[in-house]
Amino acid sequence: RSCPTHVLRLSQSAAVNMAEESKKLAAYFAVDNSVQNNQVVGVGSGSTIVYAVDRLAERVRQEQLNIVCVPTSFQARQLILQHGLTLSDLERHPELDVAIDGADEVDAELTLIKGGGGCLTQEKIVASCSKYFVVIADYRKDSKALGQQWKKGVPIEVIPMAYVPVSRMIAKRFGGEVNLRMAISKAGPVVTDNGNFILDWKFEHAQNWKEVNTAIKMIPGVVETGLFVNMAEQAYFGMEDGSVKVR
Ligand code: 5RP
Repeated sequence: RSCPTHVLRLSQSAAVNMAEESKKLAAYFAVDNSVQNNQVVGVGSGSTIVYAVDRLAERVRQEQLNIVCVPTSFQARQLILQHGLTLSDLERHPELDVAIDGADEVDAELTLIKGGGGCLTQEKIVASCSKYFVVIADYRKDSKALGQQWKKGVPIEVIPMAYVPVSRMIAKRFGGEVNLRMAISKAGPVVTDNGNFILDWKFEHAQNWKEVNTAIKMIPGVVETGLFVNMAEQAYFGMEDGSVKVR
């Protein structure tokens, strides 16, 4: 027997609420445990980071903290400004105390797939400038091996004129399927904050992610990959039972 539509809708919205609660849990936990007074904080992109900025702004107000924020995207910049936080950049603050960001998938070694929102390049730059890089995510991103949870593949930012040759080289060398990410309207490709395109590489099997990351970055036209290898120090997952899982 099939499930009545209204029951299905209810359970879908319960699942969405659960995921949102879990994002908030991880975000609040990270801000409470990783941010201290007089720090420079990297602000990631996506939907989970919204909760982190909410909490950061709350703490700054309540505890009168002196915090400077460096954004990883246009979205992050807007969030910082909307919350009345102090906005900076890597020219003024090339060294950050901590960066907090979401992820699309986190494996057992803290290797990440990022770039679901297309902001991977600036996210990787900011994370690389941070003494401490913390990932916040809901339980759906928690994975043993990349590809088990996130089915959309590894995002790769490319110079627009090179998207076809880069796609062909990646598919030939590493297998799988490479797709140009299109806008939801299908009117054209997604364009990043840097004016580039995004390829989504659906790989077929587990790989040595460090080697693959390096090899893809060597292809002319590739700006950055969404593979974050040996970068994250800590991951916080908001779990379904209301706990926070620390890795
Ligand atoms: C954007 C990202 C995001 O951090 C990632 O996609 C996770 O997003 P969300 O918090 O919405 O699940 O890498 O480029």
